[in-house]
Amino acid sequence: MSVLKSVPKKLFVKTWGCQMNVYDSERMADAMGASGYETTDRADEADMILLNTCHIREKASEKMYSELGRLKEHKIARPDVKIGVAGCVAQAEGEEIIRRQPMVDVVVGPQAYHRLPDMVARSGNGTKVVDTEFPEEDKFTRLPRGPKARRAPAAFLTVQEGCDKFCAFCVVPYTRGAEVSRPVDRIIAEARDLVERGVVELTLLGQNVNAYHGVGAHGEAATLAQLLRELAKIEGLERLRYTTSHPNDMGDDLIAVHAELEKVMPYLHLPVQSGSDKILKAMNRRHTAESYLKLIERIRAARPDIALSGDFIVGFPGETDADFADTMALVEAVGYGSAFSFKYSARPGTPAAGRALVDDDVAHARLLTLQAKITEDQFAFQTSMIGRTLPILVEKVGRNAGQVIGKSPYLHAVHFEAPADSVGKILQAEIIASERNSLTGHAV
Ligand code: 5AD
Ligand code: SF4
Repeated sequence: MSVLKSVPKKLFVKTWGCQMNVYDSERMADAMGASGYETTDRADEADMILLNTCHIREKASEKMYSELGRLKEHKIARPDVKIGVAGCVAQAEGEEIIRRQPMVDVVVGPQAYHRLPDMVARSGNGTKVVDTEFPEEDKFTRLPRGPKARRAPAAFLTVQEGCDKFCAFCVVPYTRGAEVSRPVDRIIAEARDLVERGVVELTLLGQNVNAYHGVGAHGEAATLAQLLRELAKIEGLERLRYTTSHPNDMGDDLIAVHAELEKVMPYLHLPVQSGSDKILKAMNRRHTAESYLKLIERIRAARPDIALSGDFIVGFPGETDADFADTMALVEAVGYGSAFSFKYSARPGTPAAGRALVDDDVAHARLLTLQAKITEDQFAFQTSMIGRTLPILVEKVGRNAGQVIGKSPYLHAVHFEAPADSVGKILQAEIIASERNSLTGHAV
């Protein structure tokens, strides 16, 4: 008698862009797992290749097309291999992707991921399946979780998606749609499930996470502050973070949480984009440099040691040397622990898309100036940790024997010596040195 065993198919996922895409890729892999696919980190042995794309800046979407170009040979050699495009490029370009690259079988927008397994099953042999709809249902509830596999100690959890802010440069309101918050009970259930799998630290994700307004236990709208208070009650869940926040949604109750809840880590990503009021207005940010600085003061009053992080765009249409000087002054005034800066990239369909561009060399030079300042501040902040003893969540074993790598409350990576079985534990370590992108410590 022969025993027929079905061989699992292999799924290769490549992810670009933000943390939400990382989370989405995980959930899609879980969902495909339920239909017999196991993940592989080798594209050449995959039966299905899924590209989870980013549309935020021009370079980000070009990367997907060059990857598709590279995959062509693989598809010619094995025509049965299915190729899917997910994420914000899928949402923005839809069928256009198949017109440009006919070897693509499936195009799925971020709001339709729960339909992916079915779409993949229907595709193939020349049948293309495209879904970029915005359905009403909570896609995450309908995306099955895989078997109770162990998870790394730090995980992401999407609580809110989309954005109603319409900053003049940004595609998010078009690719991720209007702001939608998941109900509190579903988030709590997912958090508990993750904790059972070994998760100790959760980062709540949303394009506008602090605008969170999900349905609470009694049908009322809950704020992010209330959600954090509920999550903080979960035993075994030791650390909470959230990202990305908009200055205008940073309410008093959320600021208070930073003083009140020990589990909420002293780190906040709060993009301001520019330090010039004229540019902020042209960007449709609806706040000024001064209101942002006042806000920072209130946050620091609640949590004096908080590490602040931000995003900046240089070379936005109309930006003069004086406007850029205002940005540099704001960076100096805040003293960021870390920050990200980008050269403006016109995105089709956004309000700023048709505006006259700043000379590219000028924009590039500003970017370098800003990045040099940010790197300097980042390093100064890192160095200020030397001599302090900090609780480090051990995330994995390091490359050198006996060494582990963990995260400090301020989101610094810390290398130190500890047993391999300390992964998932929070250990005290004294910081003794600062490298370029990480700290070195020793356990105490
Ligand atoms: N050009 C350059 N940077 C952009 N960002 C968003 N849209 C653009 C664009 N069109 C940056 C913003 C945002 C971060 C995620 O990406 O700084 O906060
Ligand atoms: Fe984009 Fe953030 Fe502005 Fe929303 S708030 S439009 S996601 S930059």
